[in-house]
Amino acid sequence: NETYKIVIIGGGSVGKSCLTVRFLQGRFIQDYDPTIEESYKKKITTDEKPCMLEIIDTAGQEEYRSVRDKYIRIGEAFLLVFSIISRASYTEARNLHEAIRRAKNFQAVPVVTVANKADLDEERLVSREEGETLAKKYNSQYYETSAKNGSNVTECFESLVREVRNL
Ligand code: GTP
Ligand code: MG
Repeated sequence: NETYKIVIIGGGSVGKSCLTVRFLQGRFIQDYDPTIEESYKKKITTDEKPCMLEIIDTAGQEEYRSVRDKYIRIGEAFLLVFSIISRASYTEARNLHEAIRRAKNFQAVPVVTVANKADLDEERLVSREEGETLAKKYNSQYYETSAKNGSNVTECFESLVREVRNL
């Protein structure tokens, strides 16, 4: 039985922990509690094949960054998250794509680009087109998700599992 180590990465407060908890437990956390480092294990079945996911939820806030850099080095697959209501998080997503490529010596690495908080469309500051352009540049699948209402959350995790399997 395969185990895949998935690292959730992105700027502060973009919704990494909420996406993880929505995926694992099917609920939404309203309150913001900055992450230092959390990890989870879950057995899932994708395309009729079971696997074990080890999910590492990293820190987006500046003061906990050293931990994140460690996971860029050791991660084998990444959900790279920004928020559609934060331009800064979009810029950071670009920097993180670059950092991952450098850390992996420009070899192919599974990265799915996730634009979260899609339920806040009336506050949107990053267009879908900009998100898709960024993802395409790094050969990455693109999903717009909402940890709040659950849209596309399972889909983006499953997409990453498929990428790891196809590598
Ligand atoms: P760090 O751990 O500091 O890096 O933050 P994070 O990326 O883990 O963000 P977190 O999941 O803690 O969410 C931050 C805030 O955004 C919380 O108040 C959440 O309730 C809210 N939030 C997360 N996802 C969504 C979403 O899809 N829609 C809306 N409306 N709010 C969200
Ligand atoms: Mg968090």
